[in-house]
Amino acid sequence: MFDVKPTAGLPKAETYRELTTQLTGLLTGETNGLANAANTAALLFSGLGDVNWAGFYFLRGGELVLGPFQGKVACVRLQLGRGVCGTAAQRRTTVIVPDVEKFPGHVACDHASRSEIVVPLIKDGRLAGVLDLDSPLLARFDAADAAGLEKMAEIFLHNSDLHQLIG
Ligand code: SME
Repeated sequence: MFDVKPTAGLPKAETYRELTTQLTGLLTGETNGLANAANTAALLFSGLGDVNWAGFYFLRGGELVLGPFQGKVACVRLQLGRGVCGTAAQRRTTVIVPDVEKFPGHVACDHASRSEIVVPLIKDGRLAGVLDLDSPLLARFDAADAAGLEKMAEIFLHNSDLHQLIG
């Protein structure tokens, strides 16, 4: 049994330090990409406050296809270069959107979402997909979230065989 330790009230840097320790514990010794993506999404969703969606899209056939997530049902296919996910994937950089209504082409899956952060997943120099988090609060995500989530993505990528998920 793996207990997710509560992180409520901790400063962001400490929250992510705790979450990276927990993620390393969860994924060490397990290489199944689907299982690891599911546990990463669950850990982020339960461990971070004010998040209404946390999950993955993986690159398949030149588009982003929905992977494991926590939150409301979501759009299945996203185009590269469009929306927040497609933009982060194409630019290969983390994109922080303080107000999704002001982001041209934002793809609305859950209408409660007000702000968003998307971290690209780069494995062996290749784009594998994105890690996406939404919040019902405006400007929920900042540079501390970007640094923390990039570290979480790195731990996920390091431990996971993605052959069944990308192509
Ligand atoms: N808002 C994203 C789509 C994915 S959902 O937020 C889960 C976008 O604009 O790419």
